[in-house]
Amino acid sequence: MEGYSPGEQPAPGTRVIKLNTNENAFPPSPKVMQALRQVEAEQLRRYPSPVGEPFRSAVASMLGVEPAMVIVGNGSDDLLTIATRTFVPAGGCIAHPDPTYSLYPVLAQLQDARSVAVPWAGAWELPIEGLLATNSDAIYLANPNAPSGTLVGIDAVRSLAKSFDGILLIDEAYADFAPKNCLQLVREFENVVILRSLSKAYAVAGLRVGYAVAQEHIINELLKVKDSYNCDTLSMILACAAIEDQEYARQTWDHIRAERTRLTAELEKLDFTVVPSHANFVLATCPGGVGKDWYLGLKRQGILVRYFDTPALRDKIRITIGTSQEMNALLGGIKALAAAEKAA
Ligand SMILES: Cc1ncc(COP(=O)(O)O)c(C=O)c1O
Repeated sequence: MEGYSPGEQPAPGTRVIKLNTNENAFPPSPKVMQALRQVEAEQLRRYPSPVGEPFRSAVASMLGVEPAMVIVGNGSDDLLTIATRTFVPAGGCIAHPDPTYSLYPVLAQLQDARSVAVPWAGAWELPIEGLLATNSDAIYLANPNAPSGTLVGIDAVRSLAKSFDGILLIDEAYADFAPKNCLQLVREFENVVILRSLSKAYAVAGLRVGYAVAQEHIINELLKVKDSYNCDTLSMILACAAIEDQEYARQTWDHIRAERTRLTAELEKLDFTVVPSHANFVLATCPGGVGKDWYLGLKRQGILVRYFDTPALRDKIRITIGTSQEMNALLGGIKALAAAEKAA
């Protein structure tokens, strides 16, 4: 089988403008670094809490749910693996809208299960009938979606949850950059699992922390499948510090949203077509229709964006929203490529 290919991670110290894996444009809160300096040897000598305390309780109180409704993972990818092993039997099936996060079909394959890619309806709308027709064990829905950044409204998600017998996993890795989320559905439906990540919203992709929220009996099934100590002591302490500093996190989200609006407008002036995004990236259809040329041209200038070599995405590039300076450099790089193309 082919494994999942993560976006390129340049070696430390390499001078690039990195807009290819949707990390937060800003550093983690200073409170995270302060907590790091206060770690004591004794905290590392012992095994960590098996359920990720004190972070599990901190997340529960931030969201207004009981700690028993939360499971913590080594990044949300860990929880995607755990969920697949828990809910999808060998020979079973995962359905997902397409295009979406390309890890989902890989997880199905690792479980000896099938995956069914159901094309988005119309302008990135939820293909409810198509998803239900797959008779799958689970539906994985990234909302906001990657790589489009589009958001599906809660009413559509609710009607899918209502009509579906299996598990509906709503991957909200980018929800903090969006105006709305589907968290309230975990109270309404026992088949809904909400998945969140600290990687992007709290600028700690290197820590590897994510969590899932669902009704207690669903969480209990997930807890049986996870590794005994899937989250380390250090990341749990630092993750608490990250979510405590809401003011800092919200400032980064505001800045990213403002840059997202500016970048979208500037790209449109340069003849790109941009799907309106609710995440910390945009998906842009390139003039000339060959995404790879723009990806390679920007890479030669030390600017990394993401290119997906699949039929639905070949004419596009996905650009992570960076700082204002990074966005200026990106726009400068694109203008230089457009000018070189014109002169040729
Ligand atoms: C839709 C989606 N879900 C989950 C993840 C994984 O995030 P984490 O860093 O929490 O494993 C990503 C990462 O890019 C993503 O795009």
